[in-house]
Amino acid sequence: MATVRTDQKQRVLMRAVPESFSNALASFFGSGPTDIALAKTQHAAYVQALLDCGLEVTILPADDKHPDCIFVEDQAIVIDGHVLLPVPGHPSRIAEQPPIADFLSRQLNGFQVCGMFGDARMDGGDILRLGDIFFVGLSDRTNQEGIETLRNLLSHLGHELRIINIPTEKALHLTSISSTPTDNIILTAEGYLSPEDFGELPDGCEVLVMPEEEVYGCNTIGFENGCVLVPDGYPTVIETLKQKGLTPVLLDMGQIREADGSITCCSIFF
Ligand code: GLY
Repeated sequence: MATVRTDQKQRVLMRAVPESFSNALASFFGSGPTDIALAKTQHAAYVQALLDCGLEVTILPADDKHPDCIFVEDQAIVIDGHVLLPVPGHPSRIAEQPPIADFLSRQLNGFQVCGMFGDARMDGGDILRLGDIFFVGLSDRTNQEGIETLRNLLSHLGHELRIINIPTEKALHLTSISSTPTDNIILTAEGYLSPEDFGELPDGCEVLVMPEEEVYGCNTIGFENGCVLVPDGYPTVIETLKQKGLTPVLLDMGQIREADGSITCCSIFF
């Protein structure tokens, strides 16, 4: 069986689906949500899956002025007792951050909070962790200055950072095209990234490359009990996880995908 994630996944912060969700940014996986009631139902099923995995879930109220507000992953990066509050890479998303920052700073007493300054930009969706190695996507949302801010924090914490060039003509974020369902597996898709892009990995770690048409299925969240949240409809991904001794928990992500949102986009673990 694959090694399950050891990073902290006990509490999760989410945000409710706004009535304005049909106006969310959408350029890659979808062309915009069309059914807000269905989006809410799909989001509720996701929340239930987290509760079933034993997580304590907090859901902040939606902000109708910000159609993308459910995608909290982009707004805060929690690493080993530190919270990095990036300046999100799309201007329409910057004002989503204050309620998330307020919540995390109240909850995480004693946590160090770091900001981002000047021209630095980053979406949390460009960060991927495999044990002690962090990968960051250089994308249309995350720039070199943002990466330097993250590098400073990670070097202070003793973690390595590797940069991955995102194929921005067809992908938004690093986590749009990859994930780490366990501490020794990276999932990605042909035509997007190759094992070489991740560099040499520690013994026992591997990059599993899925068919190009299953790229959306490569975004997963794994838990200590071996359950892995996976979008429904990606048979190679699902079968591959089963072969690794993991238990896929299938989520209908249709309306969230329409807003270019993947499973990890809707959660911050803290
Ligand atoms: N719709 C998610 C984003 O573009 O940030």
